[in-house]
Amino acid sequence: MTFSPTAVLVTGGAGFIGSNFIHNFIANNPACRVINLDVLTYAGNLSNLKAIEHHHGYRFVKGDICDANLVAKLLTEEKIDAIVHFAAESHVDRSITGPEIFVRTNVLGTQTLLEESRKHWQSGVVPDFRFFQISTDEVYGSLGDTGFFTEETPLAANSPYSASKAGADLLVRAYHETYGLPTLNTRCSNNYGPYHFPEKLIPLMIHNIINRKALPVYGDGRNVRDWLHVRDHAAAVEAVLKRAAPGSVYNIGGNNEWFNIDIVNLVCDLLDGRLGRTDGENRQLISFVKDRPGHDRRYAIDASRLKRDMGWGPAYTFEQGITETIDWYLANQEWVGEVTSGAYREYYSQQYGERP
Ligand code: NAD
Ligand code: TYD
Repeated sequence: MTFSPTAVLVTGGAGFIGSNFIHNFIANNPACRVINLDVLTYAGNLSNLKAIEHHHGYRFVKGDICDANLVAKLLTEEKIDAIVHFAAESHVDRSITGPEIFVRTNVLGTQTLLEESRKHWQSGVVPDFRFFQISTDEVYGSLGDTGFFTEETPLAANSPYSASKAGADLLVRAYHETYGLPTLNTRCSNNYGPYHFPEKLIPLMIHNIINRKALPVYGDGRNVRDWLHVRDHAAAVEAVLKRAAPGSVYNIGGNNEWFNIDIVNLVCDLLDGRLGRTDGENRQLISFVKDRPGHDRRYAIDASRLKRDMGWGPAYTFEQGITETIDWYLANQEWVGEVTSGAYREYYSQQYGERP
């Protein structure tokens, strides 16, 4: 069974993963309309979408996923037959200092979208419908030295961020079980690649190395993350959207575990040569700092269900992906400069004529 959407509402499409997804999806599905609903928080950057902003099938709407009237209006007026829901507050450190917005956006925002989806789907305006919740492996909590998260691993979120994502995942499950809403839910490991906001580990390290700033490594640096290129994530999402049975849950991961300190050392070494520095020079910027409270020790994903059902596997090797990512940041210092200075916020008014 294949599902072929004709009008997809992408939420959070101006963020890191959402914008990469839109680029991929429009290229692969030129006949499908894409409506990008994004409120443009600090993490939303329309210049991520410059290359497709005038594409005939693309529309940007500045708005909040918690605004039920707006969501209802868009679903009806655009005859939306799929929501791919990326919008979120996404940074663990920010959730520790300010959890409230995480509950509002990630839990209440998701519930608002689910409720409006339910009404829209039950009204029969569109012949078929999917609500697709993009989630994270962090909902499963933390692993010891061995083992993997499967889709059956109980949810045991430890940070306010992951707790809010787990709450949203359970609401998605509830809307499927209770109302029969055709939902999909994927849980992906850490992404890296172009347009990644430089508060997250890899782009922060690249940015700080270029600017000869300290590289803060939390705790002993031996926490493990399983890294996946964002375009591989985008491809997996597209496969699940079109081919997964309603109600299903899939893990997405690159089978690519790294200690944080090894990633930081690798990025340092790859940048030594590119920046004309001596071997080992960048590693001297590393600074071990106080650990993040509640810091999950290890994430590792078992993505065999996705491989079995969809034949999906990562197209990027890590070596290729990290090299390309570093080169992308070096070639796009203007983008990084606009993000770190805050100038990217002006892009909206330049394009759309008003400053919200
Ligand atoms: P991001 O922070 O880069 O982007 C989030 C986007 O959502 C931004 O454009 C922001 O403006 C928008 N947004 C926030 N609140 C909104 C609201 N109330 N209404 C409308 N738009 C709003 O995040 P990301 O890294 O691209 O992550 C996207 C999704 O993928 C999230 O749901 C996240 O939980 C999930 N995820 C991320 C990773 C990762 O490694 N980054 C891994 C697995 C899953
Ligand atoms: P991050 O990119 O914030 O993703 P997440 O917490 O969602 O996995 O962090 C990845 C890992 O890197 C995590 O173990 C925390 C660590 N980290 C640092 O050591 N230093 C930093 O400055 C940051 C941002 C993260």
